[in-house]
Amino acid sequence: MYGIITEEAVKSLSGATKVGIIGAGPAGLMLSHLLHRQGIESVVLEQRSRDYVEKRVRAGVLEQGSADLLVNSGVGDRMQREGMLHDGIKLRFDGEEHRIDFRTLTGRGITVYGQQEVVKDLIARRLADGGEIWFDAEATAVERVDDHPSINYRCGNENRSLECDIVAGCDGSRGISNRLIPSPSGGRQGGGVYQRDWPFAWLGILAKTPPATNELIYAYHERGFALHSMRSPQISRLYLQVDAAETMDAWPEHRIWDELRLRLNEPDLHPGEIIEDGITAMRSLVTEPMQCGNLFLAGDAAHIVPPTGAKGMNLALNDVRIMAEDLAHFYRTGSRERLDRYSSQCLQRVWRAEHFSAWMTGLLHRDPGGDPFEHKLRLSYLRYVSTSTAAATTLAENYVGFDPVLA
Ligand code: APR
Ligand code: PHB
Repeated sequence: MYGIITEEAVKSLSGATKVGIIGAGPAGLMLSHLLHRQGIESVVLEQRSRDYVEKRVRAGVLEQGSADLLVNSGVGDRMQREGMLHDGIKLRFDGEEHRIDFRTLTGRGITVYGQQEVVKDLIARRLADGGEIWFDAEATAVERVDDHPSINYRCGNENRSLECDIVAGCDGSRGISNRLIPSPSGGRQGGGVYQRDWPFAWLGILAKTPPATNELIYAYHERGFALHSMRSPQISRLYLQVDAAETMDAWPEHRIWDELRLRLNEPDLHPGEIIEDGITAMRSLVTEPMQCGNLFLAGDAAHIVPPTGAKGMNLALNDVRIMAEDLAHFYRTGSRERLDRYSSQCLQRVWRAEHFSAWMTGLLHRDPGGDPFEHKLRLSYLRYVSTSTAAATTLAENYVGFDPVLA
């Protein structure tokens, strides 16, 4: 069994596997777990330590389909015990509150459970199953993606390589694998990349204070967006829209709490110890296609969404669910037919989520370059979403997870 391995062990292990997976985020870990269940061996290479990836605070909303995937593949026990089932969200704006009732509108709900908890559960399960996750092993290059690929990686001072049939690029937005997708004009320069940088960012905190709400609050205020989420009955997760160039120095604790209370219009939100904080830029990006030869991208390596729609982890899990099925078909039959359709199948859902995330972002954020007319339009649309069943259903069915392939 290999967990955090020594350099000695790397030497004896490096060699060959069926699927070489770069990255131990939700995408890479879930892929190796699903492949194991199909009897397909893999190795996960992760540049960071186990401790680092388990502590990295990220988003925390699982669509019903993602929660079902965890449960049905046998890694959902703790999520079922500790995750919080929500049947709706609250929209607050202009002194009003409206609830979007997902359960009534779609028959489905969401589970609030931190991404780092999903990562911990998957690592524990892979190691218990004898899975190979090589931490502190940074992939530096992929060779021969069209034929018999190998991944070059660095572990300590050693440079080594891993031969594989297939490379799964699950190395997030700053990894190396998406650069290997040929650009439409030929050459390997990062594929056809569609992207938008948003002119604002999110300041996020994790704080020891009981949530002042039983469901997520998405607030639109003329000073900007705010979100009240949670991780447990004692821990709240809170976000504020800030300028894109803002740094934490400009945000002493009292300013964060004052601004949260004002924008959320929530007198019951009490300051507590801030255990994590940070500012994250907002970006939309899709790389097309999500595959090239024997290299297949999944999750943030292929696409990025602004966090307003809570889609990042869900898209990552959906990609690898499809990739694992396609690889199982490939190894069972020898046919590449399904693998060849991997990218086009994923992209339908990816673009739906990109649209929804951009739409939610535009609806709920103050545009620094915008005018009072836009502000009024936003308020009118928020009122429409809050009062029209058709408009509320559009928000609800996308939020809980809409799959154009299955629709
Ligand atoms: N070699 C090895 N590992 C790498 C390399 C590399 N060259 N580059 C990046 N990685 C690792 C990162 O350290 C990280 O652990 O790849 C992993 C990618 O994981 P995530 O960023 O969590 O991406 P993914 O698994 O696609 O999950 C998407 O994460 O960022 C959030 O909002 C996003 O919720 C979404 C989710
Ligand atoms: C979170 O809980 O971290 C969270 C929730 C909803 C979002 C984004 C993040 O849209």
